[in-house]
Formats: sequence, C-alpha cells, structure tokens
Amino acid sequence: MSQARGQFSSKLGFILAAAGSAVGLGNLVAFPVMASKNGGAAFLIIYLLFVAFICYPVMMAEIAMGRRAKRNPVGAFDAISGGSAKWRLTGMLAIITPFMIAVFYTVITVWLVVYLKELAGGGLDRLSQEETFGEIVAAPSLFGYAIVLLVGVFLILLGGVKGGIERLARVLMPTLAVMLVALTLFVLTLEGASAGIAYYLVPDFTKMSLSTVNGALSQAFFSLSLGMGILITYGSYFSREDSIPGSARTVAVMDTSIAFFAGLLILPAIFAFDPNTNTDDLSTSSVGLIFSFLPKIFLSMQAAVGYLGATIVAIVFFLLVFFAALTSLVSIIEIPISYWIDEFKMTRRKAVLTQAVLLTLFAIPATLSFGMSEFFTSFTSYGGLSKSFFDVVYDVFYETILPLVGFTVCLFTAYRWKMSGLTSELIIGDDNYEGSLLQRYLNFALGTIIPLVLFSVFVSTVIQIYL
Ligand code: PHE
Repeated sequence: MSQARGQFSSKLGFILAAAGSAVGLGNLVAFPVMASKNGGAAFLIIYLLFVAFICYPVMMAEIAMGRRAKRNPVGAFDAISGGSAKWRLTGMLAIITPFMIAVFYTVITVWLVVYLKELAGGGLDRLSQEETFGEIVAAPSLFGYAIVLLVGVFLILLGGVKGGIERLARVLMPTLAVMLVALTLFVLTLEGASAGIAYYLVPDFTKMSLSTVNGALSQAFFSLSLGMGILITYGSYFSREDSIPGSARTVAVMDTSIAFFAGLLILPAIFAFDPNTNTDDLSTSSVGLIFSFLPKIFLSMQAAVGYLGATIVAIVFFLLVFFAALTSLVSIIEIPISYWIDEFKMTRRKAVLTQAVLLTLFAIPATLSFGMSEFFTSFTSYGGLSKSFFDVVYDVFYETILPLVGFTVCLFTAYRWKMSGLTSELIIGDDNYEGSLLQRYLNFALGTIIPLVLFSVFVSTVIQIYL
C-alpha cells in the first residue's frame, strides 16, 4: 500500500472516538424508553448481562480483526482468511450495513439541525404542536440543511483519523458528558421527578418476555456500534502498544453509563411535567419520542422557568442529541471511506468525495420518504404495514442485520482465524490476557453460545418484522 494508514494518536484517542461512535440516539432516547417499558431494573440487569457476556467478546473480536489486518472490514476478512472469496463476500455485509445506516442517520440528524434552528428562533411552542413534526419532515427546505450538514461532516472526514474523527470526539465527548450531567441534575431537582425515577428503576419482572430479551440484546448490540464494521475499522487505526480488552471495556462502560444517565434525565423530566403519563403511550420509536413528545415536555417547563428558560433547556437537550448523532454519523461514514482507500487505492480526498456523492444519492429518496414524494413514501409493504423507502432501510439495516453481522464475526474468528489467532492478537499490548478467566471464557463462548444467541435473535427479529 502506498499511503500511510491513519492512526489514533493514543489509547485515549481511540477510546473517545469509539465512545463517540457508540454514544448516539440509541443511548439518549431508545434505551431509557425501552428500560422503562420493559420492567425497569429487571431490563437493566438483562441488558448488563448481554453487554458483559455477549457484546464485550464480540467487541474485542472486531477490534482485534481490524488491528491484525490493518484494513477495512472487507480487507480484514480477506486478509485474515488468506484471500477466501467466500469470506471476502461476507465482509461486504460489514460495508453495506454502515453505508445504509448512514443514509437514514443522515436524515434524522438533519431534522435535529432544523429543530435547533427553530428553537434558536424562539419556536419552542411551534415544535410542541402536534402537526409540526409532519410539516418539518416534508418541507423541501430540508435539502438546504442537508447540504450544510453533509459539507460539515465530509470536511471533518477529510481531516482524517487523527485530525478529523479523533479531534471531533475529543471536543464533543467531554462537552456532551458535562451537558448530560448538568441537565440531569436540573431535572432531578424538579418536583415530581421521583415518580420517573421509580418508574425507571423499580424492577418489574412481570413485564419481561422473550421479546424483551431479544430487544435488550439488539439494543446493546446497536448501542455499542457492533455489527457495523465500525470497530473493525477503528481497530485498524489502533496502536499495537495498547490493550484491546482494556480499551473495549472502557468504551462499553462509558456507553452503558451514558445510556443509564439518559434514563435519569428523560423519565423524571416526563413525570415531573406530566405526572399522569402512561408509559404505554410513550412512543417506542426514538424518532417519535424526541421529535414529537419531548418538545411538549420542554414547553410545559415554562410554568417553572419561563419560556426563555424552557427554550434554553430544550436547546441544551437537542444540542446534546445533535453532538451524539454527529460523532456517530462521522464514525459510520468512515467505514466505506476506509474501504475505498484500502481496496481501490484511492487517496483520502478522492474516497471522501466518492462517498459524499454516493451518500447524497441515497439520502435523497430517504428524505423524500415523509410525504414529499408519494412513490418513496408508500414504497412497499410487508408485515401488514405500508413502508416508505426510509422504513425499509431502517428495518433491514438497523433492526435486523446487526446480530447477523455479529454472528459472521464470531464464526469467522472462531473457525477460520481460530481462537489461537485471536489470542495472539489480544495478548499484544496486554500482559494480563493470557491465561485469564476472560480468555478462557472467550475460547469457550465465541464459537458456541455467542453465535447461537446472535443467530436466534436475528431469526426472531425477521419473523417479527417481515412475516
Ligand atoms: N451506537 C449508536 C447509537 O447508540 C449507533 C450508531 C452508531 C448509529 C453509528 C449510527 C452510526 O445511537
């Protein structure tokens, strides 16, 4: 390869960038709602078990694959398998998935930009009206905002691994943590907040079911950015001096802590301002919750802190969500870019440009899926529901495919690379791994129960959504 590959400047750089990817809409919105609807602390316990016993090993396997091969996901499957066409093709899944996730994530991030602009102009009351969300997502002016956002995102990516991705995470991640803590403390001082905490944390085992368990695993997988090729690619930028098990653990702890904190923010906020909230009415989709439900909650704060105060709280919240979404978006677009660079020997500039064109091409129909174009809005139907182009991309690449990609990573590592290969990578930069309990667990589970669980979740999701 002619060009020097990008690399993170340090272990901290990697951790912040990986956490920047992991912390996103999934943590700030989907997790709190899921936890409160599915038995509170009971859900939390299952979630933690999945993170520790299923996700953490897959995380290490992905990072190790990337670091060993020093390539993008396709290149990693290819190089480690010794050029097997079958495994190379499997690796394609870990390129197509992030490519398509970027498509709908871009659309949602553009909406966040519009909301921020609207709030800055004093429009909190408009945003809290029922019909506003529908109007905003169907307005052609979205394309203007999309151009501004995408130019910004691709300029960051042009800055490369260290100067772009890592630099962004170094600034935004600490800011995000401070804002989250400050906002949470504010909400917890409100009268009525304790009802929300109780709802969030009191365990209710009667609400647990098979679909809760499935949901917890998919959520954990998604939240940690697994099955998207991200950690394989970031692993390829990770130094041989540092410990993979240690860094992956830190990222998992950070991601889970932020999800937990977000619950302490969102549910008390909802209950403080609407004590009669019936959580069955809370939208299951993060999108509905952020864009339709929460503005109403913020507006109702005006009784306590005035309209300006309520607007400021809303701006801080949406900025927080926007920062989280931006670092995730940048991370996911980097995967196809690394593919163009490695496999087609493109310069970074050319790869970024290529990806900008391709993403724009797909983002257009996804943006048109909310009423602007009848064709893309009523694109198809399955599972008894009419689905837009956006819905199809969302269902396939977000809801369904991640555990399948994780499954292929496990099989590849355990049976092609072999556990001895994985171990030989994991001991680099980590003196404690060899002979540890963790190593024994991975040797046993990565080729057996972990892929089995992932495959079962994949199958049951397919049945649930498409049949
Ligand atoms: N981990 C992110 C989240 O929790 C998911 C994600 C990562 C989505 C990267 C898109 C891009 O929201």
